[in-house]
Amino acid sequence: MSMPDFDMVLFGGTGDLARRKLLPALFDAHCAGLLHPNARILATGSHPLSTADYAGSLEQSVRPGLEHAPPEAWAAFLARIAYVQVDAREPGHFDTLARTVLQRAPEVVVCYLATGPHIFVPICEQLARTGLNQRNVRIVLEKPLGHDLQSSDAINSAVAQFFAEDQIYRIDHYLGKESVQNLMAIRFGNALFEPLWRREWVQDVQITIAEELGVETRGDFYDGTGALRDMVQNHLLQLLCMVAMEPPTSLSEDSIRDEKIKILKALKPILPQDVAEKTVRGQYRAGAAGGKPVPGYLEEKGIAADSRTETFVAIKAEIANWRWAGVPFYLRTGKRMQSRVAEIVIHFRDVPHAIFPRPLTLSPQNRLVIRLQPEESIRLYFLVKQPGDTVALTPTSLDLDFANSFKVRRAGAYERLLLDVIRGRLGLFVRRDEQAQAWRWVEPILDTWEESTVPPKPYTAGTWGPAASSALMSRDGALWHEEV
Ligand code: BG6
Repeated sequence: MSMPDFDMVLFGGTGDLARRKLLPALFDAHCAGLLHPNARILATGSHPLSTADYAGSLEQSVRPGLEHAPPEAWAAFLARIAYVQVDAREPGHFDTLARTVLQRAPEVVVCYLATGPHIFVPICEQLARTGLNQRNVRIVLEKPLGHDLQSSDAINSAVAQFFAEDQIYRIDHYLGKESVQNLMAIRFGNALFEPLWRREWVQDVQITIAEELGVETRGDFYDGTGALRDMVQNHLLQLLCMVAMEPPTSLSEDSIRDEKIKILKALKPILPQDVAEKTVRGQYRAGAAGGKPVPGYLEEKGIAADSRTETFVAIKAEIANWRWAGVPFYLRTGKRMQSRVAEIVIHFRDVPHAIFPRPLTLSPQNRLVIRLQPEESIRLYFLVKQPGDTVALTPTSLDLDFANSFKVRRAGAYERLLLDVIRGRLGLFVRRDEQAQAWRWVEPILDTWEESTVPPKPYTAGTWGPAASSALMSRDGALWHEEV
């Protein structure tokens, strides 16, 4: 399918997300020849800036990360970009923007709202007033969409007055990662795993997104958000859905999303009286990262000295349906952890009767490890006979190392998702009902933490989180998979 001609309006064009993720992703697509020759990027911001000044600022902030790219490619990419001043409170600015887009009349218009959610509604209102909500216009809503169910519902209802649901792309960039796509391929493109992918054969599932970074420059935002809202409500629950959902009837967007919502609805609520037993919240203290000392969360810029915001969460979740009843899904995420790793681990049950001497480990012998970061891989662990004159078994693994197996360029998560918006593919975006259901599930945890007098458990920066996170597992006789 050839790429349609488009204009992409980047609200928040001077912001962190645009510079760190969106523009580099568009640049990669540009270099790969995936953008229509006439396609334009209209970056907007509230300050008056000329396009030349904006391009100059990209030279400082974006270009250094793209050293691999030849100067001609960068120059051609910059030629696609124009800066348009748009202050969300100034209707006149939207008139100018609409004129700029409508005069050229591209096939598709993408409006990417990479701004705080408080201005999503005023922006949509103005887009609609100026005619930028016709059927060829798609809007992309970045997370966080609201702060809780009520505020996210209010934003969704307001946006729905101006845009139909099939024009709204709620982005969760974890769904764009190659390994997540591969998880679908492994599950639904092969008959091998399906019979094993259920309570009879799976002992537990672990999903970890660990970051080595701290809150960096986002203290103000993060302190009012915390890890549960920032990572669990969206990324971790979406990954859980991809692991646990039933086979969709096709790859069509609603077949996949219909299966995901069933899982979200089947998640057992964690009631206030169970929060202490099934969840752990932590906050990092001073420690080390990359061999250097780093400050604790409370010493970071923009963080209240008595903040109780969590930078680490571990949860034992359960899915109440026939396939998964009784199988724990352990979720964990944190900042300033020992290393950057994101992975999904399926632990299969042990043999019912062992006739070989067993290696001394508590971990189940058969594990499927789907790694999303730092490198993408899928690894299946099992036991084989130790070579030589012995009957002992030894663990080994079958590796699907994508980088070495397939020597082709692979799109990053944002690039893949941006191209999907341009092509009008909604399958990897979050539907309104999914988002609401995810909020419904995390809210009792948030409320209980808020009312609790117990502060988050401290952990030293550069470790795997508070000891209580291991205790959450060991109560069930389980261990986190921590092979980095
Ligand atoms: C974002 C969170 O959604 O995901 C950040 O807001 C987090 O706090 C980031 O750092 C992690 O994404 P990735 O792709 O770098 O693992």
